[in-house]
Amino acid sequence: MAPARVGIIGGGIAGPVVAALLKLKGYEPAIFERLDTISEGGIGIGVQRNGLAVLHRIPGLAESLGGKALDYFHFYSVLPEDKGVLAELDSPKRSREAAGYGTIGLRRSELQRGLVRGAESTGVEIKWNHHLDSLEQTEDGVLLKFTNGAEETVSFVVGCDGLHSDTRRSLFGEQPADFTGLSQTGGYAPMPESFRGKSMAINVYGDGAHLIAIPIDDESMGWAITEREPEAKETWRAMDAAAAEEFKKNSPVAQWDYGAGEIVRNATTVTKYGLYDRPELQTWHQGRVVLIGDAAHPTSPHLGQGANQSMEDAGMLVDLLEKHSPGGEPPLTSVLDTVFTELEAARIPRTSQLVKRAREQGETRVVHGVQACIDRNNWYRKLLSDETLLRQRFGA
Ligand SMILES: Cc1cc2nc3c(=O)[nH]c(=O)nc-3n(C[C@H](O)[C@H](O)[C@H](O)COP(=O)(O)OP(=O)(O)OC[C@H]3O[C@@H](n4cnc5c(N)ncnc54)[C@H](O)[C@@H]3O)c2cc1C
Ligand SMILES: *[C@@H]1O[C@H](CO)[C@@H](O)[C@H](O)[C@H]1NC(C)=O
Ligand SMILES: *[C@@H]1O[C@H](CO)[C@@H](O)[C@H](O)[C@H]1NC(C)=O
Repeated sequence: MAPARVGIIGGGIAGPVVAALLKLKGYEPAIFERLDTISEGGIGIGVQRNGLAVLHRIPGLAESLGGKALDYFHFYSVLPEDKGVLAELDSPKRSREAAGYGTIGLRRSELQRGLVRGAESTGVEIKWNHHLDSLEQTEDGVLLKFTNGAEETVSFVVGCDGLHSDTRRSLFGEQPADFTGLSQTGGYAPMPESFRGKSMAINVYGDGAHLIAIPIDDESMGWAITEREPEAKETWRAMDAAAAEEFKKNSPVAQWDYGAGEIVRNATTVTKYGLYDRPELQTWHQGRVVLIGDAAHPTSPHLGQGANQSMEDAGMLVDLLEKHSPGGEPPLTSVLDTVFTELEAARIPRTSQLVKRAREQGETRVVHGVQACIDRNNWYRKLLSDETLLRQRFGA
């Protein structure tokens, strides 16, 4: 029998990964992406060890990604009443040496470009300018309708269309995303001299604000400041030059020590975006359609788990398809139901917990008032000096 044609909605991060893995298992996936090319939006993104483990299943992909492997993670407080080092960790380096790969930092656009290239190199077709509008399920397939008028029939569908997933809307109706009350302003910047040659990421805590910066190559860093925000619009687009200059001049973080101020003052791009997540879904599928990645479980970014989790979803979905429907033949709806139900049983508890922890982590970044900040700093000193606690807390 001819291999099953699979509709992958969204060519962001989860989409190209699941498409490449399916192709390698004998399926015939096609990616349908709303935009006409790779998005240059976004800032730096971290891919953690387990995300990389999934990428290593696609020959040549992980090696071609570029980016920068992290060695050190330093934590500082700039609170005048309690200033100094909170912790200096070399766990990224040790973890990389032990496992073969650790955490890498890279531009989100570079990650997407590398993943799309990787999917194409396995033979996956990507159709740009295909914005899913609605879908209709039949006994043995799904009819996809796009806003450009195109229609495609596929055997089953994986919705990888992110925070505002139209696949999700088609299955479960319109549900607004939850604004977390925090925003981030971030971008890219040249790496301060004192960081060169070290592959060091920093977390800097102040009163009501926090900066994270990670290397994305030998000379540049991606950075993001988290602050409380009364009301925010989600956008990953860079500000215009005047607004960026204004921010670099007026942000209190521009005066911070430990390299943070220099990073903000010298920033080459500045982007501001509201942070959203969603309540847990009871199920990620209906019939022949399943959601993964941000379409299923969008999270605020404070644990750096968005990309990692979407890659884990992709890897597990393909493993379960291989287990219940080997060879890439068109599966029965009942087989898909088993696959999707097992995926949910393994993944929903895990991803829900991370969404919750990411929110909590965000709150520690915007603590306001001297005593509250000192308490927060002490909590971090304790946490960061205890590897067992750290592992429990961050799941690393
Ligand atoms: C432009 C952009 C920039 C981002 N930048 C960062 C960042 O700098 N740092 C960070 O931590 N996270 C960033 N994120 C979020 C991050 O990519 C995700 O949290 C994570 O990697 C999970 O990926 P995903 O593939 O599930 O979703 P996403 O990465 O959001 O990808 C979803 C894809 O689906 C496409 N799409 C949406 N609707 C439709 C539709 N109806 N039909 C067809 N295609 C559709 C989108 O155009 C997009 O390409 C960004 C997301 C986007 C969209
Ligand atoms: C940041 O800008 C200052 C002032 O222009 C300059 O002296 C410094 O070298 C820059 N830092 C980096 C890392 O480029
Ligand atoms: C990535 O996700 C997997 C699966 O949920 C998890 O086991 C792992 O700890 C995560 N990796 C990191 C580095 O947090």
